Amino acid sequence: MRRDGNVAIITIDNPPVNALRHGVRAGIKDCVIAARDDASVEAIVLTGAGRTFVAGADITEFGKPPQAPGLMEVITILDDVKKPTIAAVHGTPLGGGLELTMGCHFRVAAPSTRLGLPEIKLGLIPGAGGTQRLPRLVGIEKALPMILSGDPIPAKDAKAAGLVDEIIEGDLVQGAVAFARKVLTEKRPLTRVKDREDKLKDVRANPAKFDEIVAQHAKKTRGLHAPAAAIEAIRLTLDTPIEEAQKKERDLFLKLVVGDQSKAQRHIFFAEREANKVPGMGKDTQPRPIKTAAVIGAGTMGGGISMNFANVGIPVTIIENDEAALKRGMATIEKNYQMSVQRGSLKAEDLPKRMALFTPSTDLNAIKDADIVIEAVFENMPVKKELFAKIDKIAKKGAVLATNTSYLNVDEIASVTSRRPEVLGMHFFSPANVMKLLEIVRGKETAPDVLATAMAVGKTIRKVPVVVGVCHGFVGNRMLSARGIEAEKLLLEGALPQDVDGALTEFGFPMGPFAMSDLAGIDVGWRSRKERGVRAEIADSLAEQGRYGQKTGKGFYLYEGRSPRPDPEVEKLIVDASVRLGVKRRNVSKEEIIERLIYPMINEGARILEEGIATRSGDIDVVWLYGYGFPAWRGGPMHWADTVGLKKIRDRLRQLAKDSGDKRHEPAALLNKLADEGGTFAGYGQQKAA
Ligand SMILES: NC(=O)c1ccc[n+]([C@@H]2O[C@H](COP(=O)([O-])OP(=O)(O)OC[C@H]3O[C@@H](n4cnc5c(N)ncnc54)[C@H](O)[C@@H]3O)[C@@H](O)[C@H]2O)c1
Repeated sequence: MRRDGNVAIITIDNPPVNALRHGVRAGIKDCVIAARDDASVEAIVLTGAGRTFVAGADITEFGKPPQAPGLMEVITILDDVKKPTIAAVHGTPLGGGLELTMGCHFRVAAPSTRLGLPEIKLGLIPGAGGTQRLPRLVGIEKALPMILSGDPIPAKDAKAAGLVDEIIEGDLVQGAVAFARKVLTEKRPLTRVKDREDKLKDVRANPAKFDEIVAQHAKKTRGLHAPAAAIEAIRLTLDTPIEEAQKKERDLFLKLVVGDQSKAQRHIFFAEREANKVPGMGKDTQPRPIKTAAVIGAGTMGGGISMNFANVGIPVTIIENDEAALKRGMATIEKNYQMSVQRGSLKAEDLPKRMALFTPSTDLNAIKDADIVIEAVFENMPVKKELFAKIDKIAKKGAVLATNTSYLNVDEIASVTSRRPEVLGMHFFSPANVMKLLEIVRGKETAPDVLATAMAVGKTIRKVPVVVGVCHGFVGNRMLSARGIEAEKLLLEGALPQDVDGALTEFGFPMGPFAMSDLAGIDVGWRSRKERGVRAEIADSLAEQGRYGQKTGKGFYLYEGRSPRPDPEVEKLIVDASVRLGVKRRNVSKEEIIERLIYPMINEGARILEEGIATRSGDIDVVWLYGYGFPAWRGGPMHWADTVGLKKIRDRLRQLAKDSGDKRHEPAALLNKLADEGGTFAGYGQQKAA
C-alpha cells in the first residue's frame, strides 16, 4: 500500500496473474482495514501489478480445506468501508478477481481490459457473490449469458452495461486517483453494489421474464450441473436477501467443487498446461522466429491452415499444382472470410487486408523465403516424399518443414531430406481454421528447438498444441480407428446408425461416428480402405451406391440441408448385410454401445501411453477434447476411464476379446498392470514423472 495524498493505493502483486491465493487475500484484507481505519485516507484505490488485475482464484486451492480469510470475507470488509473504494483494473479481471471489484463502490478500467466470470468453464459457478452482484450491476438479461458462457466482455461493453464506471486512457492508477478525487469533490453517493436494486426491478415485477431469458440459453445447460446451479443462484436475486443468497450460492459452489463434472473440467485445465512440458525441451529451448509461412496444397486442409496464419497477420504463400486448383482454393478462402463478415466477426473493410496476406502461386520456388513450410497435399507416401525432396532443395536454411499427414510415417518423409532434425508433423483437424487441436508429431530426429518452434507457432495461431510420437494415426486417429471398427460391428449385430449416434450424443459428444462420417464424406475412408485392401461392409456398400454423405444428400442418413433423417433404405442395407454375413441381429443396449465404442479407445490409449507415443494420459485427453469433441465435463477418455475404474474396463475388454475372438480387445499390458494394482492412468503419469 502506498499513498498519493489523501488516496491510499493498494497494489496486488502476485505474479504471474495475481491469483487470489490465501496470502493475497490476507494481504488485501490487512491493507483495506489499515486504510479504512486511517483517518487521513479519504479514498482507496485497489489495483494489480504486472500484466493483469487478479485473473481469478488459485485453482490449486479448490477442493482443499479453505484457509481464512475467504474471498467473501474480504469482500464483506470492502463492502463496509465508508469512504470511496475504486477498483482500477487492466488485463483480465476474471472470476474471483471480478468478484473482488464488485466489493468496491466503483470500477474503472484500461481500454483493453476484458472482464468476466469464467467459473462455468471449470464446471463451477462464481462462489463469492458473483451471481448476486453482477445482475445488480448489469441486469439479469446481460449477467445470465455472461455467467453461463463464461466468456469475458471488453471494457467498452462493460461500461455500456454498467459494470465499469469509467474507461481510463493513459496511466491507469493516476486516472483512478483522479476519479477518486472527483467522487470526493462531487460528493457522489457511495452505494454498495449489494444495495443496488434498480436493474433488478423489471424482472422482479415480471418473474416470467426470468424463464424467458433462461430459455434463450437452454442449449448450453443440457445435462450439466454448473449451468443449472448458476441459474438457480441467479434466480435468488428475484426474491432472496443478498446475505442469504450469497450463502446459498456458496453451498451450490461447494457441491460443484467436489462433483465429478468440475473435477473433470479442472483436470482438463491443468492437462492443457501440462501438455506444454515436453521431455527434452527445456525452458531455455528458444523457438525460431516465424515471420512468414508457406502452405503447399490449397485443398480442404491447406486452405484452412493458411487462414490460421493470415488471421494473426502472418503473410502466407500458398502453392498448388495448377492454376485451376489454386483459384478454387483461394475462392474457398475468400468465401469463408465473407461468411465471417456476414456473421460480424470480421469487418468488411478488413477483408481485402486479410486477403492481401496471401500470395498464391503454382511455382514451388515461391516457398524460398518462408520461415515455416507446411505440406498439405494428398495423403500418399510417394507424393509426399517426392515433394519433400524438392522442398529440401528450395526452402531457406533454418526453415521448419512440417507435414500435415494424418497417418503416414513422419520419419520416412523426413528421410528424403538433408535436414531431418528440421522436419516434423503438424497435424491439424478439419475444419483447420476452426478446430483447436494441433498434434505436433515429433520425428526420431526432430531437434528440440524445431519442436519448440512448432509449439510456439501453434499458440500464435491460437491452437492447443500437443506433442505426440510417430505411429500410424498418431494419438487421435489411432484411437478413432478403434472406435470406427466397433461402430461398424454394432450395425451388423443389431444397432442402427441413429442408435449408435444417439448413445454417443447422449454421452456428450456433439455428434456420433456415422453423422461424422457423413460430414467428412464416406468416400474418404472408402478410398483409403481400398488402397489398404480392407473393407468396412456397411460404409463401403453405401459409398459404392454413391452415398457419400452430406455432400450427396445421402449417406448413413438422408439430408435436407444439414439435418440428418434415418433412411429405411439404409436400414434394409444393414439388415441384408447381417443376413449375408450370417450375423444374428439382437437388441443392443445404450450401455453396450458406449462400452463397445469407448473401451477399445481407452485400450488403444493405454498402448499409446506404454509405447511413449503420448507423454502422459492428460495429453490424450486434451487431444480428444479439442480434436474430436469428447465432452469436457467427462475429462477426456483417460480421465473418464479412471473415474469408471480400470478394473471394470479391463474385465469388460477381456470378455469382449473372448466373445469376439478379436485380439485387439486383449487388454494392453499397462491397463492390466494398473487394473491389478488398483491404479489410475493419471497416477501412472505422476509415477513416471517422479
Ligand atoms: N481432410 C481432413 O479431414 C484431414 C484432416 C487432417 C489431415 N489431413 C491430411 O491433410 C492432407 C491434405 O488433405 P486434404 O483433405 O486437404 O486433401 P485435398 O485433396 O482436399 O487437398 C489436397 C490438395 O493438394 C494439392 N496437391 C497435390 N499435390 C500437390 C503438389 N505436389 N503441389 C501442390 N499441391 C498439390 C491438390 O491439388 C489438392 O488441392 C492429407 O495428408 C490428409 O491426410 C486431412
